Amino acid sequence: MKILIDDANIESIKELYAVYPVDGVTTNPTILKKAGRPPYEVLKEIRAFIGYNDLHVQVVGDTPDIMLQEAARIHKELGSYTFIKVPTTPEGLQVMRAIKNAGGRVTATAIYTPMQLFWAAKAGADYAAPYVNRIDNLSGNGIASVQTMQDILENHGFMTKILGASFKNVQQVQALAAYGCAAATVSPDVLHQMLKNDSVTLAVQAFVDDFHSLAGEGRSMADI
Ligand code: E4P
Repeated sequence: MKILIDDANIESIKELYAVYPVDGVTTNPTILKKAGRPPYEVLKEIRAFIGYNDLHVQVVGDTPDIMLQEAARIHKELGSYTFIKVPTTPEGLQVMRAIKNAGGRVTATAIYTPMQLFWAAKAGADYAAPYVNRIDNLSGNGIASVQTMQDILENHGFMTKILGASFKNVQQVQALAAYGCAAATVSPDVLHQMLKNDSVTLAVQAFVDDFHSLAGEGRSMADI
């Protein structure tokens, strides 16, 4: 399962890359707004740092023509292998097909329902991003919805992969990992929570204390 960082703060991305074997970065207009700098300046820094790892960048136009112009500019600035995130709307479906016909990579985004996923898959999207927590907040069941989406993809042999998005806790990511979803994009907060565990910290400290009482304070296996 690919894990992407759902954030555009370059320092935060660098810190996470130093620790976790992550696979890339996703952004959306809200995430770019939080970064608070000119979008292409931030995105170019991210691209330079992550190299050929996956980078997903969203279009905001309200017509297919404008969205296609945005896709062309994103490709020019950030590389033609950059995933263009396109909202899964009637206009967006036209854009997805045009980008795929031109050989580009597409992430269908803003997916709340299995039938949106179905049409994104038929339009040839490489990834489809269902919004797990936002579905929960609409009194739906985000995990169950994504499982239905994964079943649709598998039962029809679509090449589209799930890129789970909008996570607010570790359990949501874990449930999609267990179900075999191909990718998830996770905020730095939730990523850090995945390995934060007081029991583990205490267990490791007890081992260290025992070693020090055996070999001397501050000693390690390197200097005894
Ligand atoms: C992907 O980048 C999505 O846009 C993002 O995960 C949405 O997350 P949110 O529901 O926390 O805004």
